[in-house]
Amino acid sequence: MAISVRNLSVDYSLPHGTAHALRDVSLEIQKGELLGLVGESGSGKSTVAFALMGLLANNAKVISGTAKIDGKSFDLTKPNATAALRGRGMAMIFQDPMLSLNPVFTVGTQLCEVLRRRSPGSDRKTRIGMAEDALDKVKLSNPQRRMGQYPHELSGGMRQRVVIAMALLSEPALLIADEPTTALDVTVEAQIMREIIGLRDRIGCAVLLITHSLGLVTEYCDKLSVLYAGERLESGTVNEVQQQPGHPYTRMLFDCEVQIDRERHADASENRFTVIAGELPDTRQRPPGCIFNGRCDVSFADCAVVDPGDYPVGNDTEHSARCLRLETP
Ligand SMILES: Nc1ncnc2c1ncn2[C@@H]1O[C@H](COP(=O)(O)OP(=O)(O)O)[C@@H](O)[C@H]1O
Ligand SMILES: [Mg+2]
Repeated sequence: MAISVRNLSVDYSLPHGTAHALRDVSLEIQKGELLGLVGESGSGKSTVAFALMGLLANNAKVISGTAKIDGKSFDLTKPNATAALRGRGMAMIFQDPMLSLNPVFTVGTQLCEVLRRRSPGSDRKTRIGMAEDALDKVKLSNPQRRMGQYPHELSGGMRQRVVIAMALLSEPALLIADEPTTALDVTVEAQIMREIIGLRDRIGCAVLLITHSLGLVTEYCDKLSVLYAGERLESGTVNEVQQQPGHPYTRMLFDCEVQIDRERHADASENRFTVIAGELPDTRQRPPGCIFNGRCDVSFADCAVVDPGDYPVGNDTEHSARCLRLETP
């Protein structure tokens, strides 16, 4: 197994209380596999990524959590754990490629720097050749010219390709892509997703694709985890979850997706999750019982008081959901 995260809980301290942004979130990604982490805005997706990358804000605290990468375990509550984790090979693609790029250096300088860090002994000419090759692999036209350009001279889609080329050169064991195409239009989205898949094929890394788009997940991912108000409500292979959603929330997401996709041409930028009535609960005052209770259309009395466990769905051992209806007496 490439990477697993166990029982990740993260709090943010606020002027008036503490927000429990993540509660016991676990993930597993095999080498060469794409796991889609899906959830509406504010559900805690980026917090998962930042906790792994060591990029959490100063007011964040990792309450619990371990990560295992290539058989080695890391205690995520320890401040230096993520540095050690990064050392074993993690790369991240953000929604805004400029968070990964330095505006004052050319594309070539930045790509060569990745290589210099990875293999300090390599000579300059080799590095330039490898950098150009990486740009060519992510289908940036005219790689030689791109090497001398600054990020501001490129379009958003081209910048994201440069970031993917950087990830390609760093050969991570885990690539985390947090809404990598959200800022791009739909045609560029498909191209960028193809380059991420291409990167996975070339280096065989595990990919954590973070997105609010269920459509992206069903199209490109092998597995899927659904996050809601900081809790993982369902997890399984995309096929299994799609055919037999174990959680009412997941079912509602899939129902909306069908409905919304028809409207997609009218307004591609719309948030596809707003169609489920209600809002995310306030994680400062977590209500007792199931976290989804307030928005659920099939809840019963126990749901307001009993905290559901993670129950298996169907016969697939990988498929589970946190819903009391799945509890076997
Ligand atoms: N530095 C912070 N301080 C306080 N609350 C935060 C901070 N960062 C994120 N949050 C809150 O934590 C929750 C999860 O945020 P985030 O991980 O960014 O969600 P997502 O990426 O799914 O949109 C949200 O309610 C957000 O407002
Ligand atoms: Mg986010």
